[in-house]
Amino acid sequence: MARPHIEPFCDRDVHFKNMTLPGFSPGMRYKMLSLDTDSGACSMTVQLDAGYRQPPGFSWAERELMIVEGELRVGDRTCRKGHYFYIPPGYAMPEIATSDGCLVLMMYNTSAPSHEEATEHHPLAQTALYHDVDSYMDIPWAPGNLVKPSVASGCMIKLLNYNPISYAMTFLYFMSPAFFQDNISYHDCAEESYHLWGTSWMMQFGNLPTGGYFWRPAYINHGAFASELGCIALGRVDSKLFNHFHYNPWTTPKENRDRAAARVYQRDPLLYRWMVSHSHNHPHGPEDFEQTMARRGVDNKGEARDVAKEGHRHEHWHGVHKHEDHDHGH
Ligand SMILES: [Fe+2]
Repeated sequence: MARPHIEPFCDRDVHFKNMTLPGFSPGMRYKMLSLDTDSGACSMTVQLDAGYRQPPGFSWAERELMIVEGELRVGDRTCRKGHYFYIPPGYAMPEIATSDGCLVLMMYNTSAPSHEEATEHHPLAQTALYHDVDSYMDIPWAPGNLVKPSVASGCMIKLLNYNPISYAMTFLYFMSPAFFQDNISYHDCAEESYHLWGTSWMMQFGNLPTGGYFWRPAYINHGAFASELGCIALGRVDSKLFNHFHYNPWTTPKENRDRAAARVYQRDPLLYRWMVSHSHNHPHGPEDFEQTMARRGVDNKGEARDVAKEGHRHEHWHGVHKHEDHDHGH
């Protein structure tokens, strides 16, 4: 099961709970925003109390962090609000501490929250994928029409993370004061947002204030949009973001999905016909030979032999290993 539709929700309406999972230091409290109950993947608002200290270590999950309020000491650096971290699984972070307390958005993307004390990376960690940035100070705003067809002007973005295989993205976005967009959207991907500051309005779900959140699965109508005074938010999509726009507020997710498939059929008819025949449309999708072919340092089963010696490899974004332990009908 993927994460259910959560919308509208505001983290200010619920209380923090103590984090009790093994490995985490006391003084960490969380509000669960969304949770995949099968994998444990989740997004949380986390309060780190004054004096909190997390020893160096790594998580088994891919994760992303965003400082919402306060300052966080990461090793010998002091990071302020707006600082964003993308941390691959197995990547050992230095000690994390806060003297005055800190509010952080924590996203565990691939499995449940975990912390293994370690001062060295796991030998299979794709360390080159790690990056962090002060997103408020060190990235300029870019037009929202990076994605076309585009949101209305008055919505701009800062791209924070991008997966070149799935086209999944993490980004900051703002809506300007008096922003509006009059059409209705849906996408082929799940969409997530956390309002860092300010209020936006949506026809189906009303006003979403500071601390407002949604996890919206694919094909759910949203919009028209507006924001009276403006807002800034962290957004994510889990695969390619395409804006299917329309003006019919009554369509169902199934009708939206059918329309999206019809557009693939109209645009790429040969590909569409191939995909729906020959049993190629099994859950893991057809094989991508670039993902599965033998490589130097990787045996035919896709397992790394010399990774420890080379330190890392970065050809395999989020390593896709297909067709190892299941049959399918070629
Ligand atoms: Fe959307």
